[in-house]
Amino acid sequence: MQTFLTHEKQSQREFSAYIKRTEKAIRKAFKKSFGAAYSGLTPQKLAAAIKTDTILPEKGMGFDKVLVLAEKTVLPNLLCTPSSSYMAHLHGPSLLETIAAELVISTFNQSMDSWDQSPVATEIEVQVIRALCDLYGYNKTSDGVFTSGGSQSNQTAIILARDWFCNEILHWDVKKYGLPPQYTKLRMYTSEISHFSMEKSAHILGLGYESVVKVPVDAKKKMDTVLLKKLVEQDIKAGNIPFLVVGTVGTTDFGSIDDLNELYEIARNNNMWLHADAAYGSGVIMSRKYRELITGIELCDSITLDFHKMFLMPISCSAVLVKDGKDFEALTVHADYLNRTEDEEDGYTNLVDKSIQTTRRFDALKVWTAFQVRGKDGWSELIETSMENARYFYNQLKDDSNFEVVTEPEISSVVFRFCDGNKNTDEINKKVRRRLIHEYGTIIGQTVSDGKVCLKFTLLNPLITHKKLDELKSLITAISKTAAEE
Ligand SMILES: Cc1ncc(COP(=O)(O)O)c(C=O)c1O
Repeated sequence: MQTFLTHEKQSQREFSAYIKRTEKAIRKAFKKSFGAAYSGLTPQKLAAAIKTDTILPEKGMGFDKVLVLAEKTVLPNLLCTPSSSYMAHLHGPSLLETIAAELVISTFNQSMDSWDQSPVATEIEVQVIRALCDLYGYNKTSDGVFTSGGSQSNQTAIILARDWFCNEILHWDVKKYGLPPQYTKLRMYTSEISHFSMEKSAHILGLGYESVVKVPVDAKKKMDTVLLKKLVEQDIKAGNIPFLVVGTVGTTDFGSIDDLNELYEIARNNNMWLHADAAYGSGVIMSRKYRELITGIELCDSITLDFHKMFLMPISCSAVLVKDGKDFEALTVHADYLNRTEDEEDGYTNLVDKSIQTTRRFDALKVWTAFQVRGKDGWSELIETSMENARYFYNQLKDDSNFEVVTEPEISSVVFRFCDGNKNTDEINKKVRRRLIHEYGTIIGQTVSDGKVCLKFTLLNPLITHKKLDELKSLITAISKTAAEE
């Protein structure tokens, strides 16, 4: 049994055989799914199906036997993300060209921390980051880095915001001394429906949940900027220290987009950093028709981008961009064994200088590949198809008295609920989602809006058709009516 792919003939043959067998097994699993998103097994049945005495036998079974086992128990129960019956989360299928890129990434296994672990990969990431800065309207002082996901991108931005504010405004060197004496008074502002990575980051950074001021949203689920202004003023009067505003460009549930121009005014007038969490909405820039929806993003001091959401790339693939690249200095530590200054002076770039990770994947290759493969035309079409689907489905629901729709979609999510005046409507909607999973292999989202349980279609997948949406609406109506009579 060969260990690695090398230049040797036997190893090359075996590599090819592994790939061919795996590829065949994957295709077979997709074929057998008949288009469903999931086999339908309950958690108990699933746990029983994969039960085994040990996953570490005394003697290895060899790859073929393990693949046969995986074909029996694992592959048939994996979520088929490209299925048009999957629309639960900001999580989708992988574009074909990015699966090919993943194979290159895993086989070569570059690590993006230092140049000598990733020579051309480093140069590619630098080039991709430059292109992204241009795409989102930043100038040449900007910079960025790939991260493990939107949560890490947000956390990175909040670290840079905190350090910038403490250095520039409080004249306190956080890197050297830790949090400033008045740290319990630091405040960041974000909408009440922003992503939970805000609170998580605040806790991790030693600021605590109390530092996160949740600003109410308006009827369109956008941050109420009049209230934001008021809350900042009140906090200043009370002796608190506002340092950061986070606008959400595509809220997790509704896809609503905060008014970045207004947020910019408020942030500038109060010496605050402005971050755009565009983990969801970053894809809108690719649509020629809808890109205006995210104007103002170029004004923000930092931006979270996620390529494993609207951009349909394999997990993980995310980046954080920063308007003034010098702010990354907050994350730079030099080590004799890794990122020597003498090398950097001679032009060897060590990307670890900008990252909270050390060992890091070459995810930039997926963006480099997919951007060139599809071009502006291809990307515009992909993104617009999912956005148009949301508009279509919203229009079907709003004229149907069986349903209430929460807001008109700005991006590609529709949140709605079956309603028949029955006091158990919450329970009916919950039942609908469970039955769709276990009886129809269909997975949709569920959330709560204004205290009521709602269903959610997150329409990232451009293969979803109007016909499919009509069929699902009829199915949901039928299941809801049956459930209402139970
Ligand atoms: C608005 C928003 N920000 C951040 C995140 C976190 O992204 P990730 O799951 O890639 O960490 C999400 C995830 O859904 C999100 O919706």
